[in-house]
Amino acid sequence: MKILLTGSSGQVGHALLTSLAGLGEIIAPQRSQLDLSDSAAIEECVRATRPDLIINPAAYTAVDLAEDEVAVAHAINAQAAKAFADQAHTLNIPLIHYSTDYVFDGEKRDDQGNFCPYEESDDCAPIGVYGASKRAGELAIMATGCRHLILRTSWVYSDFGKNFMLTMLRLGADRDQLKVVKDQWGAPTSALWIADKTAEIIRQIQSADSKQDWWQQHQGIVHLTPANSTNWQGFAQAIFDAAFELKLMTKKPEVLGIPSNEYPTRAKRPHNSMLSTERLKKLFGIDAPKWEDSLQHCLQQMKNKQLTKELA
Ligand SMILES: NC(=O)c1ccc[n+]([C@@H]2O[C@H](COP(=O)([O-])OP(=O)(O)OC[C@H]3O[C@@H](n4cnc5c(N)ncnc54)[C@H](OP(=O)(O)O)[C@@H]3O)[C@@H](O)[C@H]2O)c1
Repeated sequence: MKILLTGSSGQVGHALLTSLAGLGEIIAPQRSQLDLSDSAAIEECVRATRPDLIINPAAYTAVDLAEDEVAVAHAINAQAAKAFADQAHTLNIPLIHYSTDYVFDGEKRDDQGNFCPYEESDDCAPIGVYGASKRAGELAIMATGCRHLILRTSWVYSDFGKNFMLTMLRLGADRDQLKVVKDQWGAPTSALWIADKTAEIIRQIQSADSKQDWWQQHQGIVHLTPANSTNWQGFAQAIFDAAFELKLMTKKPEVLGIPSNEYPTRAKRPHNSMLSTERLKKLFGIDAPKWEDSLQHCLQQMKNKQLTKELA
């Protein structure tokens, strides 16, 4: 199997390079080889490489900058997604794409007035440009009629790239106290876990008796996050506790929770980013982990790499 993989310099794409190894030949063009803001180049690339599967974790992920770069965000998150889907449809190959909790407005509550997880079928109402561009990408893919999976995830972190966990470790090393937002709720999701579960799903496709039946039964949007949730303050505290325990830090800063309005950002963030993982279990038999366990695993891997470097 030949897999065309985008975004391999990003968190999820980078992790996919490892998780997909053994599943087939991976063709992973960098931005310099394939600029996703150029739909014609995407068409040319897919036609030239003739993949059996396209995986598209590349995205414009600068949530605040997107408010000022609307056209670029839409070009990469919506038009490029459509260009891949058009090619997937024409060549009759599947597309695995990633999307975000930011497609929702973050106001979903249960009958008691408490935040509760969004289902895949809940109405989308993005409150910022990034979320709107990602939702436009979802709709564009579905409209082409190609075989597709759209894996919605949230609060992605990894020991690679730019993310909240690495930012906290960097800031926490220098400061005695950090103020972190406490009124936005969601599930921190490890890029390693996203990549491993994507590979697991691809293995399920490969071993299906009828690919056509498989796609008929599984196609669509699926949430791919841990099962439980926290707020950013809780996530920061857990990062420091685990990193300190693993001796990745020599001291722990104090973490103070603040409301979002004390940390103004260019783009508004949803207060409730919790995504239901019931469909993930039902369709693929995948048990979403606790976010704390994935975090521990990620930090342990960081520690192992550090030890390996020290020994080298
Ligand atoms: N990060 C999160 O917290 C989060 C949360 C929810 C959902 N998601 C979704 O999860 C998926 C993976 O996100 P991630 O965190 O892995 O993203 P990331 O680390 O920001 O990586 C984005 C990737 O896209 C590439 N890219 C961006 N613009 C490009 C262009 N014009 N041409 C070619 N490549 C381009 C980047 O290449 P360069 O290195 O050249 O810039 C990079 O490889 C995305 O669909 C994202 O929307 C992410």
